[in-house]
Amino acid sequence: MGEKVTITYQDKTIDLPVIFGSEGEVAVDITRLRAETGIITLDPGYANTGSCTSSITFMDGEKGILRYRGIPVEELAKHATFKETAYLLINGEPPCQAELNRFSILLNDHSLVHEDMQSFYQNFPRQSHPMGILSGMVNALRFFYPELQTLEEEINITVTRLLAKIRTMAAMSYKISQGHKVVYPRPDLAYCANFLNMMFDSPVRPYVIDEDVVNALRVFWILHADHEQNCSTSAVRLVGSARVNLYASISAGISALWGPLHGGANQAVIEMLRSIESGGYTIDQAVRRAKDRNDSFRLMGFGHRVYKTYDPRAKIMKKMCDKLLAKLNIKDPLLDLAKELEEKALSDDYFVDHHLYPNVDFYSGIVLRAIGIPTNMFTVMFAIGRLPGWIAQWKESADDPNWRIARPRQIYTGPPKTNFVSIDQR
Ligand code: CMC
Repeated sequence: MGEKVTITYQDKTIDLPVIFGSEGEVAVDITRLRAETGIITLDPGYANTGSCTSSITFMDGEKGILRYRGIPVEELAKHATFKETAYLLINGEPPCQAELNRFSILLNDHSLVHEDMQSFYQNFPRQSHPMGILSGMVNALRFFYPELQTLEEEINITVTRLLAKIRTMAAMSYKISQGHKVVYPRPDLAYCANFLNMMFDSPVRPYVIDEDVVNALRVFWILHADHEQNCSTSAVRLVGSARVNLYASISAGISALWGPLHGGANQAVIEMLRSIESGGYTIDQAVRRAKDRNDSFRLMGFGHRVYKTYDPRAKIMKKMCDKLLAKLNIKDPLLDLAKELEEKALSDDYFVDHHLYPNVDFYSGIVLRAIGIPTNMFTVMFAIGRLPGWIAQWKESADDPNWRIARPRQIYTGPPKTNFVSIDQR
């Protein structure tokens, strides 16, 4: 008999099994709680609730650890390609050479986007946010690429299509927003370089591929590739639990990621630093406002639900930021402001006591600026990076023998039964 937790409520007592993860994480399995006692748990924001078991990503928020399929993210950032990382997340093992070759051919074969989709892009209002466009267009992919014959074919081809087309769609959306001609994917270029070329190549100024820029993008995407049950991933799993198609589930994930408390923070950090630069407020005022409970202002790029220490991704991003800017000979005043803000915040009791450290978004915007990505595309860059993780989590949940449609309960706090009284009777 394993360990158990006993809950007694009124005249009912139930023994609930304790389960352990492979890294010693502990949970109480409450599957039988409501059926046997009539009570439910209440956990706003799910801070104490495990929604699934998963073998994809391990995080330790106290020690600042992040691993994909057991491999530390630091090692992947040093040695792996983004394509290998995507394969690892989705298939559970890093690819061998033959598998990688096949994966590359498939990604290349599926990298074009149906020409008719261009007319959608042309018709979005000019000021539309690229995340809204991406979410809509990913959902629309289902109409251009209808369901395939077998489930296996459907999943494998849809996965490859999404990975291949998302970067074409993102770059296409940027080009069209600029009023420029779309640049098509090139079979001779690898995943990251291909995207940069589609974004920045033009007939009047051919894009020259710089290996340091390609490397920065590779690392950026690897660091964003998965982060277990965060808001957007939970959205993908929740929407997917209704057995909707993968495109619709990923579209929901993109919408969730758009929020400034989640992936949208990378854009919000740059906007905050720009406000400081333009004299809207000082660093001291930003820190003061962030501490004020009556002010909704927060230091963007700071704090995390799981990490109570420095985000391991932020450590790598900060180093890369310094290296890339030095290599490209860029002097970005926002980097100096970011460092000053970090130093002020980390020496302030409020941030120390609340365990608030820079997260991945704090320095990533400066890296993206150096690469040449426009600010309103920052969260799209996050979404492209996160796609393999969303797919892996969607697949895992679809294959789960304990699968059930996600359907949380609630505690009703509204009025008791009330009769309807028509307007003329009131
Ligand atoms: N600035 C000032 N105070 C903060 C901040 C911040 N950035 N983040 C949290 N706090 C305070 C918060 O006011 C609360 O204080 P108190 O206990 O005194 O009321 C305490 O810290 C706990 O905050 P919380 O909102 O309950 O924490 P959470 O786990 O629900 O939220 C978070 C996590 C990331 C949404 C939050 O830290 C935040 O809003 N950060 C800024 C936005 C941001 O950078 N988001 C990117 C996250 S990393 C990328 C990704 O999404 O994967």
